Amino acid sequence: LHLLSVASEMFPFVKTGGLGDVTASLPSALTPYDVQTRTLLPGYPAVLAAMEKVAYRSVEFGLVLGHAAQLKIGQVGGQELLVLDIPALYDRPGNPYVTPEGCDWPDNGLRFAALARAAATIGQGGLENYHPDIVQLHDWQAGLTAAYLHYDGESPLHANGMSRRPRIVQTIHNLAFHGSFPPTDLPILELPPQAAFIDGCEFHGRISFLKAGLFFSDWITTVSPTYAQEIQGREWGMGFDGLLRTRTSDLTGILNGVDINVWNPAHDPAVRFPYVVGDTIGRLSNKLALQAEFGLPQDRNAFLIGIVSRLTRQKGVDLLPEIMERLLVSNTQVIVVGEGDRPLHRAFSALQRRFPRSFACHIGYSEELGHRLPSAVDALLVPSRFEPCGLTQLCALRYGAVPIVSRVGGLADTVVDANDAAIERGVGTGFLFSPIDGATLAVTVERARRLFRENRKAWSQLQKNGAATDVSWHEKSIQYSRLFAKLAEVEIVEPK
Ligand code: ADP
Ligand code: GLC
Repeated sequence: LHLLSVASEMFPFVKTGGLGDVTASLPSALTPYDVQTRTLLPGYPAVLAAMEKVAYRSVEFGLVLGHAAQLKIGQVGGQELLVLDIPALYDRPGNPYVTPEGCDWPDNGLRFAALARAAATIGQGGLENYHPDIVQLHDWQAGLTAAYLHYDGESPLHANGMSRRPRIVQTIHNLAFHGSFPPTDLPILELPPQAAFIDGCEFHGRISFLKAGLFFSDWITTVSPTYAQEIQGREWGMGFDGLLRTRTSDLTGILNGVDINVWNPAHDPAVRFPYVVGDTIGRLSNKLALQAEFGLPQDRNAFLIGIVSRLTRQKGVDLLPEIMERLLVSNTQVIVVGEGDRPLHRAFSALQRRFPRSFACHIGYSEELGHRLPSAVDALLVPSRFEPCGLTQLCALRYGAVPIVSRVGGLADTVVDANDAAIERGVGTGFLFSPIDGATLAVTVERARRLFRENRKAWSQLQKNGAATDVSWHEKSIQYSRLFAKLAEVEIVEPK
């Protein structure tokens, strides 16, 4: 089965969040299930630079929305890539979506419509000897592919030459981002006038790329079963709940996994003292080293809480500054690694000045710290207001950092609350809280701290249970491959 994955991010070339991790780690997880993935990416400088290091072939791809394009085809780091090279649209360093000043690129509509236009063309046989059975569209940046495939299919030209259209799966990583542009863009995007109507790409008087994907796809997946339910309700449907309810029978939540070879505390190069969970000495060395790295007192008895997160409202981290004083009682330390909204940068920097012996932060993006933190902290806090899946809690479980998370989306699906009954039965893996507010968060941190201090045996059982949780892609890739096979009406061979 041939899968064309269409994405705007892929680790390690370009990543702003979990989307890049998923598009990078899912393909190899699908290979054993007979799913061969090729990923179509925009030709950002980092992607092209990676291509330059391998033997790739270049194909003239003609005009894509008025821009001369080349398709660079090659295998980089085990990934089969199709790179859409249009320098006028993608030759911009840094973040894939925003200018160095942090504003959206004014031509983002055109940039990601071109990606989608190329995907639709490839999907219909536009690349010689390649006929994907499924196109998987990741988030709004790829969503318009579904509209192009639909309208191409309606066009009288279509009967001649174009092959059967592939089945379309729209995957929602985050419903909060709609890819919304003015309807006046339609001619530039080479979409027909009817795309501006409700049974097209229209959303609140604008064109939404995500709406196109949700409306015209054959199937919709999102990244956890709970989020799949939540987005069908008003509170978290972000205006799409009505549409999603009409599609309830073809909407599935499949949890994300992580690459457990990469996320392995015994072999992770970012981990100072490699260990296996259960080896308390190894973890303790990492804790003391991290405290030193962040200028905090090296104290094995301190309750050390870490956060690795985009610093945005979604992540609930804005709840922290007002309750920090309450969190930092009774020898608690907090380390934040994050980047995002400027007011939060300022708030966390101010906390560091105010509590130099118990609070520290690294404002910025550091892949290395993203790995090192979970190897060293006692607990990892994820207080998100909504969380489609979340990856950091999965890494925390694997590294023996006990997750303290809000009871939403994928967090609720992957962490088992260590209430008294769970502790007695030896089944908890972390701490869940709701409602999501500062007071409840503070009480939950207190609950975790008390267990850490008063019942080390139960605490280390939580760590072991977490490490035994299956955070790999194994089960999830079976679910994806079965779904793809059903949609494409092909048989796949599953390994025994
Ligand atoms: P989201 O995609 O909503 O940001 P996820 O939990 O799915 O949330 O994925 C976030 C990914 O980005 C994880 O791999 C996490 O470790 C990483 N990450 C987030 N912020 C940072 C940061 N400041 N430095 C390093 N890694 C980060
Ligand atoms: C999004 C979500 C996050 C999810 C990630 C990968 O960025 O916010 O919850 O884990 O996508 O699917």
